[in-house]
Amino acid sequence: MEIIIKNDYDEICSEASQIIFQEWQKKNNIVLGLATGRTPLGVYAKLIDSFKKGELDFSETRAFSLDEYIGLKKDHPQSFAYFMNKNLYHQINIKKENIHGLQGLPEDIDEHCRQYETLIKSVGGIDVQILGIGSNGHIGFNEPSSSLASRTRAKTLTEETIESNRQFFKGEEGIPCYCLTMGIGTILEAKTILLLAFGENKAEAVVNSVEGPVTATVPASALQLHPDVKIILDEDAASLLTRKDYYRWVYSNKKGVERYAKKL
Ligand code: F6R
Repeated sequence: MEIIIKNDYDEICSEASQIIFQEWQKKNNIVLGLATGRTPLGVYAKLIDSFKKGELDFSETRAFSLDEYIGLKKDHPQSFAYFMNKNLYHQINIKKENIHGLQGLPEDIDEHCRQYETLIKSVGGIDVQILGIGSNGHIGFNEPSSSLASRTRAKTLTEETIESNRQFFKGEEGIPCYCLTMGIGTILEAKTILLLAFGENKAEAVVNSVEGPVTATVPASALQLHPDVKIILDEDAASLLTRKDYYRWVYSNKKGVERYAKKL
């Protein structure tokens, strides 16, 4: 795992969008796995900006959403499909047929989830997966106790997650308590994973995920098993890490290691 500690949220988003840009330069038909929520919004804004400046072209990009609420139609303002359209897809030149998401109202949930997995495999897998992290350590909607080998499936949200999402459903009666989510096993198959976190309320989940044991109780700790994960944090989210100086040291000396590795 590479732990990257930045000064603020804007720097987190610059780092993440830069990594996506570099991967896109290597492979224009990049396959992205994308999270919703507050965390990745700034990254999407930077990608849109690069597209508008003509630096990035999404015409061959494919995108897969990480999760979706069960029970919401695609055009519901709180659906993740709506979120992704509004905050990214409608502002770039990604083709409609290259946008993939889990449906909130599938006829057959199990079949729908199986098909989603098959579709991801059929395009060669996800190249870069963007993740946020819940304050309970969830990734996607894989809540604590999710199997570390889980695949795309229906899950019940924890009361904590429902509570944290309540602000988005102002004035509405039924806040969804079920969702579809890529599994932890699905996420771990992405070639590169970027987990982003900012703010003090993520600090405990971050330290447990990065420096704690791998456990289903902290789903993001499963990322320790992945060979190419970058955890990009601000000072607040990194505040409980015990090896901060070491992570900073590694990051600031990275260029030297890369130069050396190329010579070998
Ligand atoms: C969203 C998702 C969730 C969020 C997490 C953090 O698609 O899968 O895991 O990434 O709940 O949410 P924010 O970014 O709103 O703090």
